[in-house]
Amino acid sequence: VLGLLRPTDPTWAERAARALDRVLADHAHCEMKAASNALALSTRCFDTPRVIRALLDLAEEELRHYRQVLDELDRRGLALGAPEEDYYAAELRRRVSGRRSDRSVRRVIVDRLLVGALIEARSCERFRLLARALDAKEPALALFYDELFVAEARHHRTLIDIALDLEPDESQVRSRLAAIAAIEADVVASLAGGPTIHG
Ligand SMILES: [Fe+2]
Ligand SMILES: [Fe+2]
Repeated sequence: VLGLLRPTDPTWAERAARALDRVLADHAHCEMKAASNALALSTRCFDTPRVIRALLDLAEEELRHYRQVLDELDRRGLALGAPEEDYYAAELRRRVSGRRSDRSVRRVIVDRLLVGALIEARSCERFRLLARALDAKEPALALFYDELFVAEARHHRTLIDIALDLEPDESQVRSRLAAIAAIEADVVASLAGGPTIHG
């Protein structure tokens, strides 16, 4: 799926579907973080108005998702709770910035966009797995995750397009994306597969 080099362990979705309380709360936090990450990136692209607009559109959509997941928690009488540690995203960022030779401002922003694109791709893959696992017992929620699957696939492409807009050397972006995808696959291989969106 979407340039991911390692598929998620298929048994993850079964565990996630059995722990929906925890998955939904974690998912809400993920949407909030996606929105605030897009906003934070937009402030660093202050000299490229079309990029600011594209990141604002993304942030607004992620905020809508955040609200939708909060609504789902409310309907189920569940509390949001404090965010759990997202080892996957933190470790991916740590490994990518540790292996970056060129530390120019533009390269750092392009890396952050491409890391974001990979996180969107992984979330997209997992939403589809979750939708399938929920199909029989939670059809409405399965439909919601199918819609999010489509949105996250689009976000994956949007973030790559923005990186290509900022970095005119397309081969540079493509090779960096391939390197980050390899790192992402290594991080995924080290996950315990617990019932969180990136578990
Ligand atoms: Fe989202
Ligand atoms: Fe997204």
